[in-house]
Amino acid sequence: MRLMTSIVLVALVAACSTKPTQPTLYERLGEQDGITTIVDNLLYELGGNDTLLPFFAKTDIGRFREKLIEQLCQVSDGPCEYTGDSMAQVHAGMGLNDSHFNALVTDLVAAMDEADVATGAQNDLLSRLVPMYDEVMNPDAYLEPGTASQAP
Ligand code: HEM
Repeated sequence: MRLMTSIVLVALVAACSTKPTQPTLYERLGEQDGITTIVDNLLYELGGNDTLLPFFAKTDIGRFREKLIEQLCQVSDGPCEYTGDSMAQVHAGMGLNDSHFNALVTDLVAAMDEADVATGAQNDLLSRLVPMYDEVMNPDAYLEPGTASQAP
């Protein structure tokens, strides 16, 4: 009986001392509603950005919105699967340079500020987008000739 009590006590102490799980980045971004707000705020920012707006002249904005929400959900460990085209296919032929990239990051930060996303979560999301930089900026290196989704 004493052994049994000891086992139960040890199990209870172990359960109580388990660290609380850290929230995922998806949760820190406000889950689906928060990410949707961030993307809608970004679209608003892009609408007033003379440098970036021309790139979206022929874009199906409904699709862009949907795919970006999926992508941000997936990279933040949310319950989503990105179903859009590859970053190389999408951005091929745009002739993007660092000033375009920086302008988009600036608009994304403004979109997150507006959505009251904490600075730590903002930085974590940006750091998860950084690995895509090369594919977005040098798409040709990732594509077979003739596989870009839009002509230059
Ligand atoms: C890490 C950086 C970036 C990420 C993660 C990203 C992500 C995306 C995603 C998910 C889509 C939609 C894909 C689809 O429709 O299948 C998209 C489309 C697009 N992106 Fe980016 N993007 C990035 C950088 C940029 C930059 C710097 C520009 C500069 C203008 C840009 C301009 C566009 C445009 C114009 C489209 C729409 C293309 C079309 O009309 O089909 N993106 N991007």
